[in-house]
Amino acid sequence: MDLAPPRGTRDFYPQDMRRRNWLFAHFHDVARLFGFEPYDAPVLESAGLFIRKAGEEIVDQLYTLNDKSGRHLALRPEMTPSLARMVLQKGGSLALPLKWYSVPQCWRYERMTRGRRREHYQWNMDIVGVDSVTAEAELLAALVAFFERVGLSAADVVIKVSNRKILQAVLERLHVPAEHFAAVCVLVDKLEKVPREAIMADMAALGLDEAKVDRVVEMTSFRALAPLAAFVGDQHQGIRELRRFWTLAEEYGIEDWLSFDASLVRGLAYYTGMVFEAFSRDVSLRALCGGGRYDHLLSTFGGKDVPACGFGFGDAVITELLAERHLLPDPGPQVDDVVFAYAPELRGAAMQVARRLRQQGRSVDLILEERRIKWAFRRADQTGARRMVLVAPDEWAAGQVHVKDLSTGQEQNLSLEQL
Ligand code: HAM
Repeated sequence: MDLAPPRGTRDFYPQDMRRRNWLFAHFHDVARLFGFEPYDAPVLESAGLFIRKAGEEIVDQLYTLNDKSGRHLALRPEMTPSLARMVLQKGGSLALPLKWYSVPQCWRYERMTRGRRREHYQWNMDIVGVDSVTAEAELLAALVAFFERVGLSAADVVIKVSNRKILQAVLERLHVPAEHFAAVCVLVDKLEKVPREAIMADMAALGLDEAKVDRVVEMTSFRALAPLAAFVGDQHQGIRELRRFWTLAEEYGIEDWLSFDASLVRGLAYYTGMVFEAFSRDVSLRALCGGGRYDHLLSTFGGKDVPACGFGFGDAVITELLAERHLLPDPGPQVDDVVFAYAPELRGAAMQVARRLRQQGRSVDLILEERRIKWAFRRADQTGARRMVLVAPDEWAAGQVHVKDLSTGQEQNLSLEQL
């Protein structure tokens, strides 16, 4: 039998789990600092929830199955459709705005590259019900708070920001039908990743000939707002939103982390406005996280439009970057006391000692087998325990245990109360 987990998936041994818990603790802490509430949903959803017709990679990568009742289900590739479903299910009874977060495992049948896997955990932060870039600014402030907490600076990470409304304006002028907007965005996103010839037939099918694609490429080449504003009009809503966003970012003190980049479009169909993605400035890795505004997603599921925006932040790419920077700690096991019975007849006494210590909230590794003391010390060393608590005949008869502080080497006899 092949003992490796399925290709693209991971086992988490205790050491990996400690790192994962360390990372997730930062996700949870930052969410708390920003007043976000946790939520969750099943990893298995109706496949229809994720199937869109805009040509997105994420739809081609779906893990699907039919259950025993013939339901067509999928492992979620992302959390946003489940969030939208949950909001819709409550039929307007939720008090908006919502600030919700979760850390779901997501599944995509990806071609594997560094930091890209077939399952990943993805920290999601979403704000539902705020129709203003104040929400995007708050989300990016949360991202920066996270990066700072794990030891990264604006010299390490850049968050690229753009607004799809600008591409929308350009497409309107080129008389590309509005219903093709999402599909064109998905293709324009691919322009960065594949040779142009590879997608020209698809572009043409959506109403973009070579000359129109040239115009789009020209638009995506801007890296500053002023020339782009001249290109689409200074009072265009996309430009106004970006300007206001930048003012807010300055107030938050996060502008050093940000960079305007008109080539950023994102590959998901549902974004309608601001989009953003964070990258390492010098280590060549895929995006650390990405998000944006999706004001019409809920109505595509049959509800009415509710403004919303958010981001997804995977665990894999950030782990690569932190490892590269030597910023990935191994906190080690968290055992406080090793409790060891000197003789089989003292096992019951050792259990009592362990129980009392655990009632005090201490983490206790009770030695469960007949072993030599040397073995117990070696184990204490491996688990990073702070104290060795020895239950020995004479001491126990006197109502005491023998305690060795493993960092100072100091030894003493203590009563159970003192312990
Ligand atoms: P996404 O850009 O598809 O957006 O994924 C967001 C992040 O999840 C990526 O930047 C990356 O960190 C991580 N990620 C995605 N796929 C993989 C993979 N195969 N292996 C490892 N990490 C991966 C979304 O999923 C949107 N639903 C995010 C969002 C939330 N937008 C609004 N709210």
